[in-house]
Amino acid sequence: MSVGDGGHHGLPRLLAGLEPGGGAITLSAHARVHGPLPNIAPHQLIEEVERSGLRGRGGADFPTARKLRAVADRRRVGPLIVNGSETEPASAKDRLLLGRLPHLVLDGAVLAAQAVGASEVIVKVGDGALDALRALDGAISVRDSDRVRISVVAGPEGYVSGEESAVVHYLNSQVAKPTLVPPRPFERGYRGRPTLIQNPETLAQLALVARFGSRWYRELGTVADPGSALVTITGAVRAPGVYELAFGTSMSDLLAAAGGPSEPLQALLVGGYFGTWVDASAAVGLRLAREDLRSVDCSLGSGVLIALGESACGLHESARVITYLAEQSAGQCGPCVYGLRAIADTVAALASGVAHAGERDRVLRWAQEIRGRGACHHPDGAVRFVESALRVFGGDIESHRRGRCGARPAGLPLGETALAPPRLGASERPAARTRRRVAR
Ligand SMILES: Cc1cc2nc3c(=O)[nH]c(=O)nc-3n(C[C@H](O)[C@H](O)[C@H](O)COP(=O)(O)O)c2cc1C
Ligand code: SF4
Repeated sequence: MSVGDGGHHGLPRLLAGLEPGGGAITLSAHARVHGPLPNIAPHQLIEEVERSGLRGRGGADFPTARKLRAVADRRRVGPLIVNGSETEPASAKDRLLLGRLPHLVLDGAVLAAQAVGASEVIVKVGDGALDALRALDGAISVRDSDRVRISVVAGPEGYVSGEESAVVHYLNSQVAKPTLVPPRPFERGYRGRPTLIQNPETLAQLALVARFGSRWYRELGTVADPGSALVTITGAVRAPGVYELAFGTSMSDLLAAAGGPSEPLQALLVGGYFGTWVDASAAVGLRLAREDLRSVDCSLGSGVLIALGESACGLHESARVITYLAEQSAGQCGPCVYGLRAIADTVAALASGVAHAGERDRVLRWAQEIRGRGACHHPDGAVRFVESALRVFGGDIESHRRGRCGARPAGLPLGETALAPPRLGASERPAARTRRRVAR
């Protein structure tokens, strides 16, 4: 078949069919919004994804077609894993997709599985993602024409448990900690087999590319950053939430999409807790585009944007976040365990005014020393965050030393989502830590 036109022009794309305040979309409503699952040959799908320029939305920003090809070129391919862990505390996009629009993610997973020769899909989510678990169970039970088996696994929710080798490790042996790479999952993953692991948003985008083609996909965005992205916008904005925006959108339009700032802003944290603080005056001139973000040393990462109001203290908030990140170390690599702990303690001392400004240089030196020295990228992301915090809020250290910080806590979320799903009764919680559900 030819991959063609017919897609909705403009926005929303991924979020089309989302009913405000509603539950999970039904299969028939999903088919009405997007049309049936296309019958597309594996090589054609990979080529179309390549032409679309789609890149992974789990944080690493890796070209999706390259990953598909790397697995498709191998034999005895393992299951396709949907990495729905969403361990970034402020992020809510993957839970939104899995909990409300599960068929779009499953379409992408089934198509990608077929493209690389996988006969099974495993969706891995955090065990607190109750809406997603329930929606996936319901969606899988009504999909009877998929040619691959689909199952769901719930696992622990710590920050590093979403790293891809940790996901594979958990599925292989119930240990949600990263493993030494290489081998990477695409070389030796689930049960030793080549394994493709993708973020839910990546797969949802892929499902649209498969239906409507790369030319349609490129109608939005810029030449270098085509398409749209889901961005969780939170902090000092009037309407925090998940928004779908075209690449190339200006930061001020991003903030406007979330109702605009709720107070004058001092900084934006772009990319979540592995991301970068940017001074508000520098941030507003940027677009949601790699080129612009790179100019201030940041990237979209996991698609989180946190606005920090002038009434808050960036130094205090950053100390809380780096303490959290240090606690989230999987405890396997010395530089990560001891280095992040030392950095977190010193940043906390700077924020509470008990360390002198010279300690800042020690933190920056330690950051240099531990970069690249973990089995996974956890320390790299954490030190990027700290370096940007000291760059943007370093000027406040002296006033903290003199006890002059009267800021209000901004309460950046730690360990749970900023946009928590509605609370559920105990009877609706999953009975066991790990559950599997197999369709067909
Ligand atoms: C510490 C750490 C935590 C991560 N957590 C997640 C996560 O929760 N969800 C996710 O999709 N990717 C996460 N990633 C990125 C994954 O390792 C991997 O790159 C991603 O799932 C691949 O999918 P993509 O190519 O579609 O982005 C994490 C990476 C690191 C280093
Ligand atoms: S770098 Fe840190 S989080 Fe990553 S595997 Fe090593 S100890 Fe665990």
